[in-house]
Amino acid sequence: MIEKVLITGAAGFLGSHLCDKFINEGFHVIGMDNFITGDKKNIAHLLDLPNFQFIEHDVTEFIKIEGNLDYILHFASPASPIDYLKIPIQTLKVGSLGTHNLLGLAKAKNARILIASTSEVYGDPLVHPQTEDYYGNVNTIGPRGVYDEAKRFQESITMAYHRFHGLETRIVRIFNTYGPRMRLNDGRVIPAFMGQALRGEDLTIFGDGMQTRSFCYVSDEVDGIYKLLFSDYSYPVNIGNPHEITIKDFAEEIIKLTGTNQKVIYKELPQDDPMQRQPDISLAKKLLNWEPKVGREEGMLKTFNYFKSLSAEELHKSEHKDFTKHIKK
Ligand SMILES: NC(=O)c1ccc[n+]([C@@H]2O[C@H](COP(=O)([O-])OP(=O)(O)OC[C@H]3O[C@@H](n4cnc5c(N)ncnc54)[C@H](O)[C@@H]3O)[C@@H](O)[C@H]2O)c1
Repeated sequence: MIEKVLITGAAGFLGSHLCDKFINEGFHVIGMDNFITGDKKNIAHLLDLPNFQFIEHDVTEFIKIEGNLDYILHFASPASPIDYLKIPIQTLKVGSLGTHNLLGLAKAKNARILIASTSEVYGDPLVHPQTEDYYGNVNTIGPRGVYDEAKRFQESITMAYHRFHGLETRIVRIFNTYGPRMRLNDGRVIPAFMGQALRGEDLTIFGDGMQTRSFCYVSDEVDGIYKLLFSDYSYPVNIGNPHEITIKDFAEEIIKLTGTNQKVIYKELPQDDPMQRQPDISLAKKLLNWEPKVGREEGMLKTFNYFKSLSAEELHKSEHKDFTKHIKK
């Protein structure tokens, strides 16, 4: 019998790529989304397939699914600072109430559940690179706390269901991931730089550009998540690309890649913006025999080609917004 998987956040960036992966692997996929930050066009190519079903639903409300269910992947949540600073209460609700609903559904269906956690649980880390046993350095009441704490609660309640109810659970701590279907205006550095380059604007760096980031291409991230789901490990696992770069050097790379002549301009760093983020992926390597395969040059080119294929209307609708204005200090 074909196994059934429910993917929440299906119309989002990662959710839609996961839907593709599970369809390709021969599963019956039920996608669920309320479109708060997602877009129907990300799953338009799946809607007519016999083994894909879409349910428009807010996961913070009670969830009813007919028949059996084998796996749940909970990816619904605003994920970029620009989103969760604009919709803080929904962000807290989807991580708490939404996760509770999905754990309840997993228990009722006897399904295995994987939840999407994040490197943000490490906050502004004091340990580099971050291993899974680092507890983090999070400002609970800072503007980013709504996302970080929702995700930390999500991990806690998932472990409680695992320990108390014996539920089969998996927790992936996702580090910055990029690729086609990201939104140009989501405030993250890759779409922001690429959108600015395509519109002929200067590239904006927040702070002095010496902060570092590491970026994982979406196909690598999805492979890691898939392997984790089918492992027998219930504790959090980092999945990301450990290759670090400063934002300043990254801006230069984008200018070179896009063949444009833009300058770089500097603005004030938002509150609680981490200075460094780098996954230690030793556990994923050992446990899942997984490591990223796609180099930054190849991944960035694929992503840039995607953004280039967007209409001029979409490109200009997405003019870079200064998301610090959403922060009430
Ligand atoms: N993209 C990354 O680099 C990254 C990094 C760390 C963690 N994550 C996690 O991965 C998941 C997906 O992130 P993404 O980058 O694809 O974001 P995204 O915004 O593209 O997708 C999230 C999707 O969830 C949907 N959603 C939000 N609240 C909902 C609700 N209450 N009910 C139903 N649907 C809802 C949105 O409409 C959207 O389609 C999130 O849980 C995020 O925290 C992503």
